[in-house]
Amino acid sequence: MKISIIGCGNMGLTYARSFTQYHKSNKNDLILVAKNEEHAKKLAELNIGAVTIGIDEKSLHCDVLILAIKPQDLNTITPILNGKIKHDALVISILAGIKIERLKNSLQHEYIVRAMPNMPAQYGMGITVYTASDKVNIHHISTVENLLSTTGRTFMIEDENLMDGVTAVSGSGPAYFYYFVQAMIETAKNMGFEESLAELLVLQTMHGSYHVINNSDLDLGMLIKKVASKGGTTEAALEVLKKNNFADIFSSAILRAEARSKELSGN
Ligand SMILES: NC(=O)c1ccc[n+]([C@@H]2O[C@H](COP(=O)([O-])OP(=O)(O)OC[C@H]3O[C@@H](n4cnc5c(N)ncnc54)[C@H](OP(=O)(O)O)[C@@H]3O)[C@@H](O)[C@H]2O)c1
Repeated sequence: MKISIIGCGNMGLTYARSFTQYHKSNKNDLILVAKNEEHAKKLAELNIGAVTIGIDEKSLHCDVLILAIKPQDLNTITPILNGKIKHDALVISILAGIKIERLKNSLQHEYIVRAMPNMPAQYGMGITVYTASDKVNIHHISTVENLLSTTGRTFMIEDENLMDGVTAVSGSGPAYFYYFVQAMIETAKNMGFEESLAELLVLQTMHGSYHVINNSDLDLGMLIKKVASKGGTTEAALEVLKKNNFADIFSSAILRAEARSKELSGN
């Protein structure tokens, strides 16, 4: 399968590496489209695929075209791609906030998948939610699953409007988690722990707790009760969180991300 990637930064290169690692494409059939000569030199040194400077005939002659540039750069490539993509090729766009309708119109192409990965995809542990244009068929979907699952889990949704929620929950989610972990580590350091021990305490607690969520039959409310015995330390901490409306604050932060995603995509 011939795959071209336009936008070989963090995510574009994640796909390039994952596709080669899982034998979805060989080096000759994977085209990395560089922005300029300097970028091309760097990409060539990585030795993961053939490199072209700019979008040319070779990069357009692909079965799958991945768009992984920043959303604000889209207008610089659409005039070059408009009407030039191979008729039955599949376009997979991971551009945050760019709707299928806009891609269909600006590319003059029918087979579009809009996907939202998240940062752990760079380590094979991502979750990518995607949605597809009307004409996308089962053969295309199988290609999407085959390719995107090299970076973690995948899930298809019918309703494109939910992509703003996906962006707010799983797209931005890693940052919420890092923020939370950072606050716990800082608190442990302030208690007098060495940084390395503070990190170990927090990270292993997160790792272990995640494992429990995944393996226990108990729901989250029951798991909380299991740790928080009456009149104990955990209950005292949870009371502070409740008194300060932590759940509401957190919820409004995620809803704000969803609203921002709508603003950015012109909803
Ligand atoms: N990073 C994430 O965790 C994440 C998660 C979900 C979705 N996304 C989406 O993924 C996309 C890429 O994000 P990223 O973090 O990978 O960004 P990035 O690291 O900045 O990568 C974008 C790359 O595209 C290159 N580029 C720009 N214009 C180009 C052109 N005309 N031809 C060829 N290459 C061009 C950029 O080069 P220059 O730097 O030289 O301009 C850069 O190397 C974004 O649309 C974002 O919304 C990212």
